[in-house]
Amino acid sequence: MKARFIINSCLAVTTLVWFGSKASAQTPDGAAPVTVEKVKLVTGNLAPTPPMGWNTWNTFQTRIDEPLLKGMVDAYVSSGMRDAGYRYFVLDDGWMTMERDSNGNLVADPKKFPNGMKAFADYVHSKGLKFGIYNCAGNKTCAGYPGTRGHEYQDARLYASWGVDFLKYDWCNTDSLNAREAYITMSSALKETGRPILFSLCEWGNHQPWLWAKGVGEQYRTTGDITANFTADKHMGTWSALSVLTILDKQPAIRKYNGPNHWNDPDMLEVGNGMSYAEDKAHFSLWCMLAAPLAAGNDLRKMSAQTQAILTNKEVIDIDQDELGIAAYPVKLADSVQLWVKPLKNNQLALCFLNRSSSVQKINIKWSDLDITNAEAGSSIKFAENKYALRDLWLKKNVGTTKAAFKQDLPSHDVVMLKLTKL
Ligand code: GLA
Repeated sequence: MKARFIINSCLAVTTLVWFGSKASAQTPDGAAPVTVEKVKLVTGNLAPTPPMGWNTWNTFQTRIDEPLLKGMVDAYVSSGMRDAGYRYFVLDDGWMTMERDSNGNLVADPKKFPNGMKAFADYVHSKGLKFGIYNCAGNKTCAGYPGTRGHEYQDARLYASWGVDFLKYDWCNTDSLNAREAYITMSSALKETGRPILFSLCEWGNHQPWLWAKGVGEQYRTTGDITANFTADKHMGTWSALSVLTILDKQPAIRKYNGPNHWNDPDMLEVGNGMSYAEDKAHFSLWCMLAAPLAAGNDLRKMSAQTQAILTNKEVIDIDQDELGIAAYPVKLADSVQLWVKPLKNNQLALCFLNRSSSVQKINIKWSDLDITNAEAGSSIKFAENKYALRDLWLKKNVGTTKAAFKQDLPSHDVVMLKLTKL
């Protein structure tokens, strides 16, 4: 008598249902049931640190095709992005035809992907990268391609057959769908494939996913779309694309929900997409301070040396990837200067001074007077009692200790990012 577990696909993956020998070896749609082995494979630990990758949307929107993207995959490797820790190569909206086929399957646009999606996924994998794709919980994607509603299990099986490792799942054209239920359904469909597929929820924070998305997916957008502007939102008719600072300021209220395998996602990076060097550096530093997923969105084939240096700064990336996964909290130093504080493993700390204003600001920190206590974060660091060594993560230099005052002129929209190690 062979008993087996099967997973109840209507519930989150942690719910296992015991069936005795009478349990059928077939699920209602004829697919093989999910065994304990499969459940072990797909649950739990796909994103112990914030996922890192590259996504087509911010630069190319739907103007994507295989030759362009193969060039991008090659540049991903030759530019050092892969070696810096980036892994996912994600196709956003616009990869499919406007209609499903006669069996209801999604079809990769043959003009854009003449060799089919499996061949492209194989190419991505052959370079030691993971392959991600996009769809939407609604009837249509945001750009008007076929959405997944009513095809969740079918689409998940198709993705698994292509070798997809990551699904970004959007929220356009969802009418009265219940967000939590819709995302749980797709999460279950992905898990039933038996393939580990990282699930990235993208409902723009409209339904407070930080309260329910843990266990449903590994990351969830917390805001609307980003735009490559440091301070000014961009009006797009019925909605606004959000500046770096607008998105940043929404994060402290939800920072406590962030952690391993359930990351608050403040949207993809705009580094290299038109902001100044200081702004790009600040944007990247702050996303790392937030322990945010890092999805570059620039043209990797043409990036400047400065952009490349920002995106591949290992010491800054290490702050993002710290295994505690704690998001930074802000401390106000002056109207225009904020200090972001991120506790790290081994009692280390990352500090990021941000000049939000349009003029140079002077930083002059007498450490024993600096109070960065944060009750909610359970953090009370007393610089009067504990001394730290300081390392500047952009200069990549040791810059003294907290025994002396820290003085620096901070240009507009720039940051100083320090790692502190106890002496
Ligand atoms: C939404 C998402 C974006 C992008 C587009 C694609 O706006 O928030 O990140 O995926 O859809 O149409």
